[in-house]
Amino acid sequence: VLTSFSLDACGAPTRYETMKLRDPPKDHYTPGESVVYQCRLGYRIKPSFAMTAVCNDSNSWTPLQEACAKKLCSNPGDPVNGRVIQTNGTLEFGSQVDYVCDEGYRLIGEKTSYCYIYEDSVAWSSERPECNRIMCAPPPNIENGQYRNSEKEVYEYNEVVHYSCRSADYSLIGNERLICSTNGEWSTEPPKCKVVKCPFPRVDNADRIAGFGTKFVYKSKVVFQCHEGFVMNGSDTITCEGDSLWVPPVPQCVKVSTPPSTKPPILSHPVSTLPKTTSPVSSHPG
Ligand SMILES: *[C@@H]1O[C@H](CO)[C@@H](O)[C@H](O)[C@H]1NC(C)=O
Ligand SMILES: *[C@@H]1O[C@H](CO)[C@@H](O)[C@H](O)[C@H]1NC(C)=O
Repeated sequence: VLTSFSLDACGAPTRYETMKLRDPPKDHYTPGESVVYQCRLGYRIKPSFAMTAVCNDSNSWTPLQEACAKKLCSNPGDPVNGRVIQTNGTLEFGSQVDYVCDEGYRLIGEKTSYCYIYEDSVAWSSERPECNRIMCAPPPNIENGQYRNSEKEVYEYNEVVHYSCRSADYSLIGNERLICSTNGEWSTEPPKCKVVKCPFPRVDNADRIAGFGTKFVYKSKVVFQCHEGFVMNGSDTITCEGDSLWVPPVPQCVKVSTPPSTKPPILSHPVSTLPKTTSPVSSHPG
């Protein structure tokens, strides 16, 4: 009887990815016995799929198809002034959604939420975030200058403020215009108002060919040209910068020395503007 029993039996019931046995398994099942499956945690039943397997006369279990599918989290919907993105193209558990806010709005809360198994169902890992209008606090006040609309308490996203200096004695150094930007911060640091006055740029043996003024303020430019017989050491164009200094430094006009060889002197100025030399070159006599 014992041997015939062991031959005449089904082994452990088949395992399925989406289903588990409703009752504790037994060691043996005799032909004609059946087992009932139910959905695993996080899965829901697909309608009209069989959930019962039978131990048949050939001592094997009738095969079943996966009868359960992953549960779906409810669509959380778009936040006001933003939207939700189904990152994995589905709302089933294990997938994620990402939230984005419209331009000019800032996301408050979690950007990403996961659909996960919660108690005997599924739920989102975090609440839907909010999209709040981006606002900036008033930009900084500056010495010897001001910006327009300075009485406001808050500024809206993309709002622009314009700075100016107290009087024409001051030069505005930096950005005249600041924009209320992402994260509620101003686009740049505010400008500075400074008295900028560069010294008269004296270059011997040269003419000023541009920048004829006598007062040199912020961004004043002067261009020099050396007299014939002189070459420039440095840049022919200089600009008065915020520290009341010429940038690059004031150049010099250096006398062209009669070359001891055929090689011209090595100078920093481009060859094309070198003054013509009248001295004969040894390879072309006469
Ligand atoms: C969902 O998409 C994200 C981003 O592409 C990816 O990192 C993640 O592995 C995906 N999750 C699943 C369950 O496919
Ligand atoms: C050019 O100017 C620099 C800096 O003033 C100086 O060191 C250099 O000797 C000058 N060169 C010539 C050829 O005068």
